[in-house]
Amino acid sequence: MNRKTYNAAKKTLENNCYAINLHNQLLRRTLPSREFYVHQWNWDSATHAMALIHIDEMRAYEEIYSLLSGQWVNGLIPHIIFNPSETRYFPGPDIWDTEKTSGTTIATSGITQPPLITISAFYMYKTAKDRNQARIFQKNVIPKLVAYHEHLKKYRDPENSGLLTIIHPWESGTDNSPRWDNVLQQIDIGSIPDRIKETVNEGRTDNKLGELDDRPKVYDYYRYLYLTDLYKNWQWDFVKIVRESPFAVKDILFNAIWCYANDSLAQFLEETGKGKDAKKFRVWEQQTRDAIQSLWNSHSQIFKLINVTQGKKISIYEDTIANFLPLLAKAVTKTQLTQLINQLLDPKKYWSPVPLPSIALDNPKFELTRYWRGPSWPITNLLIIEGLRNYEMSNPCKKLQLKIIKKTMSMIEKYGFSEYYNPYGENTYTKRKTLGFGSFSWSAAIYIYLAHEYKLITF
Ligand code: DGY
Repeated sequence: MNRKTYNAAKKTLENNCYAINLHNQLLRRTLPSREFYVHQWNWDSATHAMALIHIDEMRAYEEIYSLLSGQWVNGLIPHIIFNPSETRYFPGPDIWDTEKTSGTTIATSGITQPPLITISAFYMYKTAKDRNQARIFQKNVIPKLVAYHEHLKKYRDPENSGLLTIIHPWESGTDNSPRWDNVLQQIDIGSIPDRIKETVNEGRTDNKLGELDDRPKVYDYYRYLYLTDLYKNWQWDFVKIVRESPFAVKDILFNAIWCYANDSLAQFLEETGKGKDAKKFRVWEQQTRDAIQSLWNSHSQIFKLINVTQGKKISIYEDTIANFLPLLAKAVTKTQLTQLINQLLDPKKYWSPVPLPSIALDNPKFELTRYWRGPSWPITNLLIIEGLRNYEMSNPCKKLQLKIIKKTMSMIEKYGFSEYYNPYGENTYTKRKTLGFGSFSWSAAIYIYLAHEYKLITF
């Protein structure tokens, strides 16, 4: 651990902080990057709070309160809570048009993101030094988290399979991962109205503020916006959306986090003596774990996804970083564990000079710089580090976990707080070592979290 980087990480989180007046209360929240992501993002904030709890407990709570301020009356916690004074980001509030259905006056998007917020909130509660404040936080957030979980279960798993359905690639947090290619290709570009294409061509800012080669392609954006337009026209009726949308997928990353989030929520409730209320979430946790286990294909050594669009049931096999997320859900057998470790440590697959790439290096769809189609991301490294923790009694797991922690921290020390990183580091065809947008909050937050949680710094 490097003290200079640690201090710079704190500074980055300070610089990216802004206060918002919500019902006459000033709440501090953290934007992901001033270069582009100028609002509040759901799983980014959940990650920020896991670091903030170590450096400023009140600010960590405010981060979560601010995120929850955008919760809909039906329980949804949206993926973006907009900052009313910012216009730089596309697609902004007018594209989503959620205010009529959300039941809140706060402008938000209409989709969600992996439910890391529950895991983060329980972690904050366990870690906080001021126990009084921690209990106040616990009292405030539990009903909202319960409502969120009930919302997800009701609307995203109507068939009670144990696996939630996501309705937009953005809900996975891994927007342009090849996991969505086959599903998205079924949306014929020719059938997308010109007005949507024009909105994208005129409105899109990510490709102008950032590098074109780092970002999703224009056809991805046409389809992303086609979906949001459809849902807006359906007035965010999630029963209809899940049934009729041209994009409905049981994703492995989202569901692994869902499984772990139910464990966190159950523990959170048990802590307050509400063991009876916790039971339901324990059942959901185990149901999802069993369902994830049934997705394993021993030949390809991949946990498949299921495309459930409009009643279909089509398996998707794609070799991406999401394949390791079942570790987080404790959904991995001994044999699978060995096979997954071998894949992670294979220099032809995931053990690149700057690991872990977002898709296997030998996946023909690998692209060095493009967002979730190759680059290494601190967030997925973190989720895998935490996943390996579930198996740390096994020596190879413990060793690998420490290696990934070390590599993640030195990647950040060497290349700064980028959104994502070139998996080949210096030794590469491109001169650019850092990718995406800069001064990125969750890269800073993950550095701080790892330093504290794994006791790599003496205070
Ligand atoms: C973006 O705009 O790139 C986000 O990932 C969507 O939330």
